[in-house]
Amino acid sequence: MEKKLIIAIDGYSSCGKSTFAKSIAKLLNYIYIDSGAMYRAVTLYCMRNNLILNDEINRAGIIEGLKKINIEFLHNPELEGDETFLNGENVEREIRSLEVASHVSRISMIAEVRERLVELQQKMGEGKGIVMDGRDIGTVVFPEADIKIFMTASADIRARRRLDELKGKSIVTDFDEVRKNIVARDIADENRDISPLRRADDAVILDNSRMTVEEQMVWFLQMLNKMQNES
Ligand code: DC
Repeated sequence: MEKKLIIAIDGYSSCGKSTFAKSIAKLLNYIYIDSGAMYRAVTLYCMRNNLILNDEINRAGIIEGLKKINIEFLHNPELEGDETFLNGENVEREIRSLEVASHVSRISMIAEVRERLVELQQKMGEGKGIVMDGRDIGTVVFPEADIKIFMTASADIRARRRLDELKGKSIVTDFDEVRKNIVARDIADENRDISPLRRADDAVILDNSRMTVEEQMVWFLQMLNKMQNES
């Protein structure tokens, strides 16, 4: 039987990490885990439980709340994909809102939140055969991953893609607001003290500003072939 791999995909907000990661998982018949959805689900829990108030966060309350948070990914055959469940409730749509996006960076800066989610993510990778995307997958979650990819694309292109994605989900917003949120999250992600977004030394860069998903898959398969021929 062929060796099952751990594939870590990190990069900036909205540069198509999840589309790319999902396509790879489908192609290889691997599990796909969206680690950003987990940070978003914790953020939604905090919003609902008044742990984020007027720009203040109730850090002690959030840490206490972590014990009561259960996050799962359950398959929806109609969508041919997984959806995020928070304590048994399907929150897939709600966690994608701009409101959640505007709070998530602050929640993901809390060390205890990261510790808990990293622990869960490592458990999910135990059987291998996994593609996980996020900000610290190749650096912290799976530093020994078999393949590490660091994705990037220009801010304008990312904002356009995110806007189209939100429109597709009937979420109304405008280009400038989306772009502002993306740039703010990049700055927060890159500059936080704990597990900042950075390329792992052994990660391969993929700038997909001018690439279709099909072209990205060709790029991936070439890399995989080369890697397997060398090993
Ligand atoms: O990938 P995304 O945009 O859905 O992620 C939402 C936020 O979660 C992102 O702004 C930073 C945070 N995040 C993180 O800190 N570490 C990860 N591994 C994944 C996401």
